Amino acid sequence: PGHMMAALSVFPELSCTGGPFSIPLEWGVKEHILCAGNEKVFNFIKDVLTEVIELFPSEYIHLGGDEAPKKQWKVCTKCQNRIKEEHLKDEHELQSYFTQRVEKFLNSKGKRIIGWDEILEGGLAPDATIMSWRGEKGGIAAANLGHDVIMAPTDYFYLDYYQSDDRANEPSSAHWGATVDLEKTYSFNPLPSKISADKQKHVIGVQACVWGEKVQLERDVEYMSFPRALALAEIAWTPQEKRNYADFCQRVAACLSYLDWKEVTFRIPEALSDVEINAGKAIISLQSSVKGADIYYTTDGTSPWTYGKLFTSPVTLPLTFNGIDFRYTIVLPSGRSSAVYKLQRK
Ligand code: ACM
Ligand code: ZN
Repeated sequence: PGHMMAALSVFPELSCTGGPFSIPLEWGVKEHILCAGNEKVFNFIKDVLTEVIELFPSEYIHLGGDEAPKKQWKVCTKCQNRIKEEHLKDEHELQSYFTQRVEKFLNSKGKRIIGWDEILEGGLAPDATIMSWRGEKGGIAAANLGHDVIMAPTDYFYLDYYQSDDRANEPSSAHWGATVDLEKTYSFNPLPSKISADKQKHVIGVQACVWGEKVQLERDVEYMSFPRALALAEIAWTPQEKRNYADFCQRVAACLSYLDWKEVTFRIPEALSDVEINAGKAIISLQSSVKGADIYYTTDGTSPWTYGKLFTSPVTLPLTFNGIDFRYTIVLPSGRSSAVYKLQRK
């Protein structure tokens, strides 16, 4: 019922208040949603889904169900009448009623539904598959209830989130608060032990999302998607006990070389680095995160884009009380170079 402002702008009679509305020019969760007490709404949904069914031969149809504020439902006479007639407890059960009506219609057409984890609230539609985005809690609960689940938690799989804490280096299209770097994405275990052994089969997959509120250029979509999508793929097809991040990075280096040749504008990961402190000196070893790429570095705080020396073998630096200021950029075979990265002492 939520995320409906485009439809409500054209059909304001499908809302609780009757509108009028205009199409919002900013992203966001909006309080006006489809009225659950109005039969016209269900006819509208049937009409739309009938067209969707003609267009898409898939077994599943994703109904959304996320981010539907209950503010208007709480004060709408039609919605409150529906709650009484159907003996529902509250507005969450009203959304459950809403979802189940639509599910029945889709089941009658031979389709199964997927919904975001909000559709767990107020009782789950019988055959629904849950897509768990607000962490893995919803997915765990749904699997333990015997529902199929797709894991898509924000903290690992929302690829519109920043890939580095160094925000100045990231495109303005990246957004939201958290940092989801490659290692974080790779660390996701899609089969948490909180799902009982006999229910683990209900986790049927993982999904990553690249939402487009701010990521609007194709090159930025590619930047946000890769290399994290490679981690997603490996999580999906490799059992947890066989996964190893260091080993993955070596294989990613080869994949990224290929993607560079294909002119995909992926984020160039930081070099794999090792700093050995020995007798007042730092010995710095670097390995490019992309096969066939070169690393140019400076040690005096100047820009390696302009003043960089080609890294060919480990660099030895004296350790002053300020530590080291080692900066580098990775230059791909295509000529594209990374942002300037500073070597972080762990
Ligand atoms: C979502 O990100 N609202 C599913
Ligand atoms: Zn209403």
